[in-house]
Amino acid sequence: MSRNPVTIMDIQKAKTEGRKLLMITAYDYPMSQIADAAGMDMLLVGDSLGMVVLGMESTVGVTMADMIHHSKAVRRGCQYAQVVTDMPFLSYNTSIRDAIYNAGLLMKEGGADSVKLEGGADFAPTIEAIVKAGIPVCGHVGLTPQTTSALGGFKAQGRDEAGARKILEDALAVEAAGAYTLVVEAVPHELGKMISDNLRIPVIGIGAGPDTDGQVLVVNDMIGLFDRFVPKFVKQYAKLRPVIIDAMLAYKKEVQEKTFPAPEHCFNLTKAAKEALKDLL
Ligand code: KIV
Repeated sequence: MSRNPVTIMDIQKAKTEGRKLLMITAYDYPMSQIADAAGMDMLLVGDSLGMVVLGMESTVGVTMADMIHHSKAVRRGCQYAQVVTDMPFLSYNTSIRDAIYNAGLLMKEGGADSVKLEGGADFAPTIEAIVKAGIPVCGHVGLTPQTTSALGGFKAQGRDEAGARKILEDALAVEAAGAYTLVVEAVPHELGKMISDNLRIPVIGIGAGPDTDGQVLVVNDMIGLFDRFVPKFVKQYAKLRPVIIDAMLAYKKEVQEKTFPAPEHCFNLTKAAKEALKDLL
């Protein structure tokens, strides 16, 4: 089947056609190739890379240089999916000028097709300005990992009436500011549905129940590579960590027993060289 690169229009059309959108994070070339081959609509170069790839405690320390570096690698591996790169903490919070400039760098240097930033109504002017500069924006409301200190940790948001209304208002403000899609993280499933039903743009949920217009997962969580903690909303579709450990233990054993490398893994001297060097062999 022939495929075309996924455009912003395709993503928006998916909602009107009732087709669920598939987003997954990717941080490097091999995972980008695999996710693209698996038919994901969107590859998110998430700032979650700070935690699951760089071993940080939170996403706060992730820099523009980190995001550009990983975005470039994902771009090289991706032919079809929309590459969405996260704007890291403080790359858009300081001023609208910084926001436009840094969003532009993620496209110019990182090769992103669009950018994602965390925040609701307070960030509507920022989103509007970035969109006006010609850069498509994906919003992110609900649990916003860059500001977990202010939110009281990594926990579900919008569980009471006031909280739910606030997140719905944030979602509507992000849409009105011109975002083409919106990630909603860690909210009650009823609120995930309410937001999807009330917005024209596609809503991509992570821990927001089954009724959003699409889903996103952190790839290292869903393939069982990151086990420092597993959020309630994650399903591990594979458990690769023990598979990799077994492979390394087998390698260790074979090296110690000298059964690896085997003859098929070795190069040979030429016949003439072997003859000439026989005293040394
Ligand atoms: O950084 C990230 O991976 C994200 C997802 C959790 C949506 O923002």
